[in-house]
Amino acid sequence: MKKDIDWKNLGFGYIKTDYRFISNYKDGKWDEGTISTDDTVTMSECACVLQYAQTCFEGLKAYTTVDNKLVCFRPDLNAERMMQSCERLEMPVYPKEKFIEAVIKTVKANEDFVPPYGTGATLYIRPYMFGSNAVIGVKPANEYQFRIFTTPVGPYFKGGAKAITIRVPDFDRAAPLGTGHVKAGLNYAMSLHAIVDAHKQGYDENLYLDSATRTKIEETGGANIIFVTKDNKIVTPKSKTILPSITRRSLMYVAQHYLNLEVEEREIFYPEIKEFKECALCGTAAVLSPVGKIVNHGDETVFNYENETGEITAKLYDTLTGIQMGRIEAPEGWIQEIK
Ligand SMILES: Cc1ncc(COP(=O)(O)O)c(C=O)c1O
Repeated sequence: MKKDIDWKNLGFGYIKTDYRFISNYKDGKWDEGTISTDDTVTMSECACVLQYAQTCFEGLKAYTTVDNKLVCFRPDLNAERMMQSCERLEMPVYPKEKFIEAVIKTVKANEDFVPPYGTGATLYIRPYMFGSNAVIGVKPANEYQFRIFTTPVGPYFKGGAKAITIRVPDFDRAAPLGTGHVKAGLNYAMSLHAIVDAHKQGYDENLYLDSATRTKIEETGGANIIFVTKDNKIVTPKSKTILPSITRRSLMYVAQHYLNLEVEEREIFYPEIKEFKECALCGTAAVLSPVGKIVNHGDETVFNYENETGEITAKLYDTLTGIQMGRIEAPEGWIQEIK
């Protein structure tokens, strides 16, 4: 039986669900892993994750489709990206097939928390890993825990489909040869001050520039960015220091193959944003959130939409969510059936 939750009014917050997946790494190997009701973690006060932030994570969603199936979207790509994060952080990789299996098991166990079709809500899935044994000299742990929890969520940005306002902060996100391309917890720790400050100043998110030259558009704290040109081309930044968003990669495919639009992944120098007619943030959490204004220290770029979102943005949104919710046929391998 579905839980008694007001699905339509969910925000993007944590609600404890009944089960989570836990697997431990010790003596050079992962154990089988198990589903547990224990939502707490106990470890050494000197655990590598607590002292040196040796942790990475993933985020994906489970959906109830129009024909009442339970599915998730491209978990293989999350598994692969987590492997890349682990390699960069000297952590053991969690094998791809076992990752997908664990996602399926965790969602199935929490089936009653998967929001029903048509509510606008979804089940957010959070796989993560951390170094758990005591490490005081700076070196990687040799024991790790891989866990997956789930939580039902609504829209990431307050106000739902309303176009958001973002600003260019006085902080950088990722160093040229740093960790911007992986989903390391440390990338988010350093963004907290910038996001608190952005909210204080009335902005929804920070739009980071490349830290080497501060001339090119990168991404926001929790999402990639796309633009639409006046002749309906989709343009997105190409950079080695942004997270390779699965949503962005999927949207570029959808634009090309479902909507017959041209797509370009390339460097975008700041002044060019004035030439674009639409802008949106994309990610698992953000889905595709229209941007209405970008503020860069007194310089404002405004995108004017008739209904709070751009025409092409709306088409991309409808097609992507249509694929995720089973209303539109998906490309081969995009939809993982759970039940
Ligand atoms: C910094 C950052 N960029 C982009 C994304 C979007 O990635 P994805 O579409 O794989 O969720 C995320 C996470 O959602 C993120 O944290």
